[in-house]
Amino acid sequence: MDLKGRTAVVTGSSSGIGQELCTMLAQKGAAVYGFSRRRSVVEHPSFTWMQTDVTKQEEIDRAFDTVLRAHQRVDLLVNNAGFGLFGSIETLDPEAWNRLIATNLTAAFLCTRRVVSGMKEAGRGTIVNVASIAGKRGFRNGSAYCASKFGLNGFSEALVEELREEGIRVCSINPGSTGTEFFEHAGIEPKKLMKTGDVASLILTMIELPDDMLPDQVVVRPL
Ligand SMILES: NC(=O)c1ccc[n+]([C@@H]2O[C@H](COP(=O)([O-])OP(=O)(O)OC[C@H]3O[C@@H](n4cnc5c(N)ncnc54)[C@H](OP(=O)(O)O)[C@@H]3O)[C@@H](O)[C@H]2O)c1
Repeated sequence: MDLKGRTAVVTGSSSGIGQELCTMLAQKGAAVYGFSRRRSVVEHPSFTWMQTDVTKQEEIDRAFDTVLRAHQRVDLLVNNAGFGLFGSIETLDPEAWNRLIATNLTAAFLCTRRVVSGMKEAGRGTIVNVASIAGKRGFRNGSAYCASKFGLNGFSEALVEELREEGIRVCSINPGSTGTEFFEHAGIEPKKLMKTGDVASLILTMIELPDDMLPDQVVVRPL
């Protein structure tokens, strides 16, 4: 996808992978909208922050209504908002489980349903789901996080089949540990970390592949 003049939405744009990716997409000439609860600071004139809690459907819909009033359609959606929740099964709080699934999985559904019809009309579009290695294999004390990310990968795989004939690419990126705020919030210590900018660049590379190439599942981890 050539990003010049395209419209992009990135969820989870206030820090980490999403924030870096927003800068890169804007520098490539896209009009970029970042959805997050905290202010997203991306120093570029074609970036707009939309204060949005992706666990709330009405906030997602309001943000997309604004984007779609200004642009014909969304050409690129990156479902990136997410957080980690780790602990033994007896200690996992059901409310935290629900918040995790709402953020890491349901939000991707709620955002995707708002962009697909415009992409179908255009006969092209790209949706990137930021899953995780924890969406490919199970980790001790990771039952909640793994369930959310395995779910996101299932969502992606099914959508690939549903949308590929419409010219819409659905891609899943599955990073290992990356040096963002993620681990501060998750309360666990990674052994090795990839650089945030390197993971964001990989996502940019996937997006910029020719429209007839589909990087449907990419896994990347620290060496
Ligand atoms: N870091 C890693 O090792 C790693 C590895 C594999 C996959 N991932 C995935 O990569 C994605 C990005 O994470 P990151 O590593 O860049 O961590 P991060 O720096 O903590 O960023 C997470 C982003 O998600 C947003 N977010 C969380 N809950 C939200 C909500 N309810 N509504 C709107 N936005 C929300 C946060 O914004 P606000 O708090 O401002 O709302 C923030 O911008 C996540 O899906 C994560 O699961 C990370």
